[in-house]
Amino acid sequence: MQLFLKPLRTQVQPEDFKILVACEFSGVVRRAFRRLGFNAWSCDILPAEDNSPYHLQCDVREVLNQHWDLLIAHPPCTYLCNSGVRWLHERPERRVLMHRAIDFFLELLHANVPHIAIENPVMHGYAQRLIRKPTQYIQPFQFGHPVSKKTGLWLKNLPKLKPTKIVPKEQVRQEVLLEPPSPDRWKKRSRTFSGVAKAMAEQWGEFLLSIFSDLTQKKF
Ligand SMILES: C[S@@+](CC[C@H](N)C(=O)[O-])C[C@H]1O[C@@H](n2cnc3c(N)ncnc32)[C@H](O)[C@@H]1O
Repeated sequence: MQLFLKPLRTQVQPEDFKILVACEFSGVVRRAFRRLGFNAWSCDILPAEDNSPYHLQCDVREVLNQHWDLLIAHPPCTYLCNSGVRWLHERPERRVLMHRAIDFFLELLHANVPHIAIENPVMHGYAQRLIRKPTQYIQPFQFGHPVSKKTGLWLKNLPKLKPTKIVPKEQVRQEVLLEPPSPDRWKKRSRTFSGVAKAMAEQWGEFLLSIFSDLTQKKF
């Protein structure tokens, strides 16, 4: 009798990695990882803008324990960001909401996932003291977009993101000046820049592949 055995696949592949992009309705980061072959999913309480079958419409806390390899999250910044700090003094009831937002942020940052990146704009001092300083700040103009919007990345077991395409200073505009008032202004303003998403997928995707291929090549 002849046996046909499938050769054992020792090399790790992008599809072997489960990636959760939390608080994402746009699918920008999910698509960047999927383009490279990763098993990436987005999750938001809102439906996916692109009607993708790879979107989980629910509270992300319901799916956090589903054995993800990498978590990237964009939690709401309304009560955490520096630009909204004056409201904390003018409307003290917002402090309760700020503490809820901090608890949510920390739940994501300390989730039981080996590699984590949480993204948020520059925080006010109260929030930053209770969370911690970000690992790094990035700007869209470092990733090919002629826009200034200083954004923090809080990283766990991930390398800092390296700029991919720096736009000359004289071409850069302030992000807040770009969007006129409209009901979905917050959506337009909160959508992740595609150049940043591409850098995350290429650099962190490569990082995951490299650490796991090192492990599979080790002889025990
Ligand atoms: C600042 S926006 C981030 C948008 C993201 N950058 C994108 O490109 O889609 C924050 C998102 O978090 C979502 N959100 C808030 N609480 C959530 C929760 N508990 N679980 C999942 N998504 C949540 C909101 O619906 C909103 O879409």
